[in-house]
Amino acid sequence: MSICYLNGDYLNIEEARISPLDRGFIFGDAIYEVIACYDKKPFKLKLHIERLLKNLESIKIDLELSNSNLSDIINQVINKNNSVNQVIYLQISRGPEAIRDHTPQDNSTPTIFVSSFPMKVIPKIDIEPVEVIMQDDFRWRKSSIKATSLLASVIYKMEAKEKNVSEVILHEKGLITEGSVSNIFCVKDKIIKTPSLEANILPGVTRKTLIEIIQKSEYGITEVDISIDELFDSDEVWISNTTKGVVPVFKIDNQIILNKQEKFIFKDIFKLFMTEIQSDKSQ
Ligand code: PDD
Repeated sequence: MSICYLNGDYLNIEEARISPLDRGFIFGDAIYEVIACYDKKPFKLKLHIERLLKNLESIKIDLELSNSNLSDIINQVINKNNSVNQVIYLQISRGPEAIRDHTPQDNSTPTIFVSSFPMKVIPKIDIEPVEVIMQDDFRWRKSSIKATSLLASVIYKMEAKEKNVSEVILHEKGLITEGSVSNIFCVKDKIIKTPSLEANILPGVTRKTLIEIIQKSEYGITEVDISIDELFDSDEVWISNTTKGVVPVFKIDNQIILNKQEKFIFKDIFKLFMTEIQSDKSQ
């Protein structure tokens, strides 16, 4: 049984209760974060909290908790749960209101929920490359906000499951945006590219971490438009997110991208990513 935090209390998850009138439930009026935790230390916590506070501000949810209060709650949840490697799911909604109205009341009290799950797969260098499909990006225009209204991602993931693939790479007007739950990188002739933040994508913490790592490495990276044709013509394609780290793609829409036997840049970057996890733990 896992221990969560809900509005001031640490509880067994089975005992945690919220109102069905919570705006998070009724409207998806809530922001969330997913934080990886290795050896009981949250990875890139500062970046996750920064993104969370920025998102809350962008939808005008006022939070009385400070940055250090939030860090403290997250660390307490981690310590109250047994697994050494965990995934922290944190959600802050605008809170419950007595009458359903799209327009929020001025005085609602946010619902703050922090939970923990054991991490299913720990990033590893010899991870099996994954197969993905492409789909038109039919999401809303504010994908930079980490909102809990995730019906589009659920639809994409149902299709991925039906087709027995891991992820759906999205495109709009011929350009790659991101994955349904990940950011995208591609490599051509040793040059690494990722779509820029202008492309209606989530500013992923893993994406930012990888960009910084690559900038310090022997390789270069550009944040730039990537066309569908360019993606298929890549030597390597990677997907990145908090729960999986960085994972190579070997097939897109049944077309093989990666010869699995070749040495590829992914391995060099992956090693640097693991070093970053180790050094973040000691801070
Ligand atoms: N999702 N893009 C989308 C649409 C995402 O949902 C995610 C992560 C990312 C990567 O962001 P980060 O590196 O900060 O995890 C990009 C999380 C893992 C989720 O919804 O569970």
